[in-house]
Amino acid sequence: MKEIPVKELIINPSEMIAHEWMLISAGTKERGYNTMTASWGHLGSIWGHSGGLPTSVIYVRPQRYTKEFIDREELYTLTFFPKEYKNALTYLGTHSGRDEDKIARVGLTPAFGDAYTYFEEAKLVMVCKKLYRAPIVKEGFFDEKLIEDNYPQRDYHDMYIGEILKVLVQ
Ligand SMILES: Cc1cc2nc3c(=O)[nH]c(=O)nc-3n(C[C@H](O)[C@H](O)[C@H](O)COP(=O)(O)O)c2cc1C
Repeated sequence: MKEIPVKELIINPSEMIAHEWMLISAGTKERGYNTMTASWGHLGSIWGHSGGLPTSVIYVRPQRYTKEFIDREELYTLTFFPKEYKNALTYLGTHSGRDEDKIARVGLTPAFGDAYTYFEEAKLVMVCKKLYRAPIVKEGFFDEKLIEDNYPQRDYHDMYIGEILKVLVQ
């Protein structure tokens, strides 16, 4: 994969995240790593100067095994795949790394950077550095129906804002 400047990236974030999905991964070869599928998230800018820092926002429920790795590490990655990997993403989003080596099971090849993990089969990788974490709280909702629809178990997500440090493409 080759690195390109973040500002050269031309993408449709809502199509890529909501419909094609992504993997959120964290960890290293030495310390261990895990990944999970996500279809909620944002790409944009906040803080910094001259238009803000390029950032991703992700939402992770407390029970996800991947959350332990995101909380432990300074970095997380977002990886996006060609369409033929949708079955693999479905599997990784319905099985936990706590119970099995799900990455080997779907046949993805982990690749390791300096303190982050991504996958060789990805078409696009974003390496993000955690800047901020905050819980979604029930007091913040203007529409109670969103709570009933999304949090019947009251397992509110933690939101993470991460600076996009590096973009890799095929
Ligand atoms: C299409 C899809 C989208 C998902 N989006 C999210 C998400 O944005 N946040 C989240 O916490 N879980 C999301 N999940 C659920 C996790 O991927 C799933 O619980 C996964 O098995 C967690 O794996 P882990 O326990 O190994 O971390 C999604 C699942 C699928 C199939």
